[in-house]
Amino acid sequence: MSTISTTDVTWFFACKTTDVPTNGGVCVKYKDEQIALFYFTRSDTWYATQNLCPHRRQMALSRGMTGTHAGEPKVACPFHKKTFSLKDGRCLTDEHECALTVYPVRIEDDRVYIGVNAY
Ligand code: FES
Repeated sequence: MSTISTTDVTWFFACKTTDVPTNGGVCVKYKDEQIALFYFTRSDTWYATQNLCPHRRQMALSRGMTGTHAGEPKVACPFHKKTFSLKDGRCLTDEHECALTVYPVRIEDDRVYIGVNAY
């Protein structure tokens, strides 16, 4: 897992808030990266992770089932249901599975920005 410090990021415009389904996710691109962006309506909270599921390397997490696990926001990969924390990216169903990279999200005037390493 790698979490990007919000003090050392480049913020890129990902999409408008209305482009993301309530309690669901979309895939956005930044350069060669695919990033899964999620919106939890009830808590009005946004999360972003790599879209690549580390299990069998499928670009699929944006299409995963979202929910909570002991109060922690999560996404389950649509392929084999491995479940990941959206807060820190760790796998909740298999401690040996690689964790996801997570990205900070910022909302300004109904526009969604995701923070990525400047490169
Ligand atoms: S490819 Fe995601 S759980 Fe297997």
